[in-house]
Amino acid sequence: MNKRLRDLFLISFCCTFFYLSFPKELSAIEADLGKSLFKNNCAGCHINGGNIIRRSKNLKISSLKRNGIDNPEAIAKIARQGIGIMSGYEDKLGDNGDQIVANWVWEQAQNAWVQE
Ligand code: HEC
Repeated sequence: MNKRLRDLFLISFCCTFFYLSFPKELSAIEADLGKSLFKNNCAGCHINGGNIIRRSKNLKISSLKRNGIDNPEAIAKIARQGIGIMSGYEDKLGDNGDQIVANWVWEQAQNAWVQE
């Protein structure tokens, strides 16, 4: 293999490595942020994905699906605007906070709210 080809190989390897590792770092930070947003804004009523006011309207996957909430965007919308007797938290969640907390909630729901 000539030197140029080897360099090219090395560069593309580095790029791939960067590409693969960077989003993971970011999503770890987002997961932490999602968790703390949830703790500060949602856990009061939705502790461990439950609902202390309306038990059937909890954040477990079966309940979400039953109520037609089947993606993170639907949760983000509820976080922002509220639903039924729940008010919205747009002001408290900050930029993208709705999406970040929704992604976290969705992930917890997929994992049956079992914390590692
Ligand atoms: C003050 C209590 C309270 C807080 C705080 C709260 N919620 Fe709720 N939430 C409710 C109640 C009550 C309902 C049911 C509303 C209804 O249908 O009338 C609900 C419903 C929901 C639902 C629909 C669940 C289902 O199965 O239908 C989602 C999703 C949700 N909340 C997400 C959030 C998120 C995310 C936050 C934080 C940003 C949050 N909630 C904060 C009380 C709260």
